[in-house]
Amino acid sequence: MPKPLLIDTDPGIDDAVAIALALAQPEVEVIGITTVGGNSGLDHTTRNTLRLLELLDRTDIPVASGASEPYQRQVKAPAAAGVHGHDGFGGVDLPDPVTKIVSTNAADFLAEKIRNSSEPVTLVALGPLTNIAHLVDAHPDVIALIERFVIMGGAARTGNVTPVAEFNIWHDPESAKRVFSSGLEVVMVGLDVTNSLKTYEHLWDWLADAGKFGKAYAKMLGVYTDFYSSFYGERMTHQHDAIAVAEAIWPNCTNPQAAFIDVECDSPLTDGMTVVDVNMRQGQKPNAYVCWSIDGDLFHQRLMTALQNLAKTIN
Ligand code: RIB
Ligand code: CA
Repeated sequence: MPKPLLIDTDPGIDDAVAIALALAQPEVEVIGITTVGGNSGLDHTTRNTLRLLELLDRTDIPVASGASEPYQRQVKAPAAAGVHGHDGFGGVDLPDPVTKIVSTNAADFLAEKIRNSSEPVTLVALGPLTNIAHLVDAHPDVIALIERFVIMGGAARTGNVTPVAEFNIWHDPESAKRVFSSGLEVVMVGLDVTNSLKTYEHLWDWLADAGKFGKAYAKMLGVYTDFYSSFYGERMTHQHDAIAVAEAIWPNCTNPQAAFIDVECDSPLTDGMTVVDVNMRQGQKPNAYVCWSIDGDLFHQRLMTALQNLAKTIN
């Protein structure tokens, strides 16, 4: 019996890789996707989700759009235009979607899916936590119904937008603070693990012979790799979101450790920092897990096999 999976996402090129991995794996069944602003504006991330599902021939999956603005503070300019392109998808040549969203209220959509699922749902968040904060505010009863909540976000020891803040948390720190204190246990797949794995460009060579899927993903990953090459000097990428989805599909593959995690929202210097305490110094009970490492060869073998199999189904 596949695990039902809900994905909240801000596509985003690595989001597109992560969504393909989830769709390709029989261990999980994607029962819905919600969109949030982050890598690009909500209009782009929603359009990209719909376009992607049409490419992957999965328009059976309902899509609901979510928050266009952060949970409390003013909208931050998408800091990721240089990473994912102005459309959030590296300017990939995919037609405008013909499918429509089923709702503009991600929180209500997620709550309905969680309440009505015959099997406990795993929820994965791949972007800022704005929709999840609204979910726990409006529907606190669903916290007890969620089997597992995995996020790509945060870090115990580093940052990517600032020296100490990771983009998804930095983009909407108050929503993350709300989620970490809500009673919903968070499995935090942060930069500690996602930055530890380099997906070199040559691992994607197979896309050249992978038809429509290959053409679209080669274009997106080429743009994504160009950014990493300019910033880090190597033709590689960090597949942040796919690693979080891997943790949802194969629990504990990123070596989670119980921790108390809170989020800085008031300091200009450390705004958006996830403060991770694995020693519970103030006597707190753990509210999360911080993930530390992954078997890179196994991850790459699983990811590329899954995407190659998915590509073969795309006409
Ligand atoms: O910091 C990496 C995260 O920010 C990923 O989810 C990427 O898609 C961006 O949203
Ligand atoms: Ca993302």
